[in-house]
Amino acid sequence: MSGTASPSHRPLALVTGASSGIGYELALLLAVNGFDLVATGRSEDTDKAAAELAAYGGEVKAVRADLAESDGVETVWRAVEETGRPLEAAVLNAGRSIGGAFLDTDLDDELSLIDLNVTSVVHLAKHVARHMAAHRRGRILITSSLSATLPTPYETVYGPSRAFTRMFALGLREELKEHGVSVTTLMPGATDSDFHARAGMNNTAFGPGMRKNSRKDVARQGFLAMMDGRAQVVGGDLATRRTALEHRFLPETLKAARHARLADPRR
Ligand SMILES: NC(=O)c1ccc[n+]([C@@H]2O[C@H](COP(=O)([O-])OP(=O)(O)OC[C@H]3O[C@@H](n4cnc5c(N)ncnc54)[C@H](OP(=O)(O)O)[C@@H]3O)[C@@H](O)[C@H]2O)c1
Repeated sequence: MSGTASPSHRPLALVTGASSGIGYELALLLAVNGFDLVATGRSEDTDKAAAELAAYGGEVKAVRADLAESDGVETVWRAVEETGRPLEAAVLNAGRSIGGAFLDTDLDDELSLIDLNVTSVVHLAKHVARHMAAHRRGRILITSSLSATLPTPYETVYGPSRAFTRMFALGLREELKEHGVSVTTLMPGATDSDFHARAGMNNTAFGPGMRKNSRKDVARQGFLAMMDGRAQVVGGDLATRRTALEHRFLPETLKAARHARLADPRR
């Protein structure tokens, strides 16, 4: 899919989870700011999103792949390599949660969540980091969550998966500094996307009644932090940033009880 501008003069960015939500908005910001894109998703919305993004004048390559599968990660990376161009920015953003009591949730589903939220990030980052280090330039943005800063009962596997992502990003950042590559982690608070509905959490306080951060605002905060080479940024409004600050001091047990009140479908 091509726009009108010559692709050779534009930097190239990869965005996973670009078919909807925060990832789509991040891809949009990159497109508007002159990047060509490799835009990935799992559903057919990926092609629709790519067509919309191409309207901003750049080249957009849509890749549909299940990142919970190792082959899916390799498919995405092959698509980047096939461009034959250096990757200037990589946004590793695809992810999901699963709501419900751990006693009831499906183990295979949870292991697949770890494959997506944890394993695929490490797998794709290996390719991206080696590629960017070889070119001695590049920016990586890894989506974590405010959930990385607390235990998340009734999404018991999700929070720890994002805690991994955050610490992984911060560690990788330190290593890649000397190679001219910056790594930023984005920690959104609850954000208006399909995320909670897909996690089966519409019957909780995270359902449609909750006031959530704008996905456009969250994406803008992530994009600017990545372009500035910052280590981490909280995605969301003042109240979200205040909560993030509070989480540095509150005991984990208290934060767990507070999250349970919001995420337990029986309350
Ligand atoms: N929304 C929030 O409240 C919130 C808060 C903190 C952090 N986050 C993080 O933000 C990131 C984006 O979430 P979002 O809010 O934008 O949710 P979303 O609207 O549900 O978007 C999720 C994206 O990930 C893709 N994806 C999901 N499973 C996949 C798989 N197995 N293989 C490949 N791609 C897959 C989806 O692709 P398809 O739609 O094509 O399947 C979609 O593009 C996630 O990492 C999430 O952990 C979200």
